[in-house]
Amino acid sequence: MAPPRNIVILTGAGISAESGIDTFRSAGGLWEQHRVEDVATPEGFARDPDLVLGFYDMRRAALADVAPNAAHRALARLQAAYSGEVLLVTQNVDDLHERGGAGQVLHMHGELKSALCTACGTRSRWDRALIERPPCPVCAAPMLRPDVVWFGEMPYEMGRIYQALEVCDLFVSIGTSGAVYPAAGFVQEARAAGAHCLELNLEPSEGSHLFHETRLGPASVLVPEWVDEVLAC
Ligand code: APR
Repeated sequence: MAPPRNIVILTGAGISAESGIDTFRSAGGLWEQHRVEDVATPEGFARDPDLVLGFYDMRRAALADVAPNAAHRALARLQAAYSGEVLLVTQNVDDLHERGGAGQVLHMHGELKSALCTACGTRSRWDRALIERPPCPVCAAPMLRPDVVWFGEMPYEMGRIYQALEVCDLFVSIGTSGAVYPAAGFVQEARAAGAHCLELNLEPSEGSHLFHETRLGPASVLVPEWVDEVLAC
């Protein structure tokens, strides 16, 4: 089989689990600790902004206590060494792909290290708390919110992602439950484009039946193994 020219990789919370960041839907995960409606919807933010700002301030501060793992580093190695196109799309809002050495990362659900001004729409790099209502660096309005895509909101970069899926030869999904659209629908788009679809996950996801191949296990083991295979092609 000829080596794939265009690879699209989708990652989810599972790739950062071994770095110590809770996933969302596992036992004791984030959505067992917090009500989605309260902390991950525009309505929840309107109802109780302090609760929401505090939740994301806590998650942003916690990034200082975690580090990228072998899976993050392996994907950076692939991006650097591979002769074809490698597009890395993540649902994660942490910065572990970048700290693991990845060059280009499309954060379709936003980032903890970014703030969005609800007055002027500017997105600013951000690494401090938001609960004190600091001024927007551009318009000075005290109207910053976490630059995270909440339920009911449109994810970022969808045009670029669909363009890449239309021409991809290999689609790889890592550490995601396949519970949330539009990301959960990428495998169907890739299949329709004739791509080979591979899933690397701790357990079967909701979309496992749509993949040509599923490998079960921890990302820190499966991802470096898979990257070695591709680079040996
Ligand atoms: N290695 C590989 N996979 C793992 C590991 C691991 N060490 N640990 C957990 N997983 C897998 C789980 O089996 C599960 O299928 O990662 C997946 C995590 O699923 P979720 O918690 O649902 O996270 P994710 O799929 O990223 O959620 C999607 O939902 O809540 C929203 O916006 C949020 O981006 C998020 C989206």
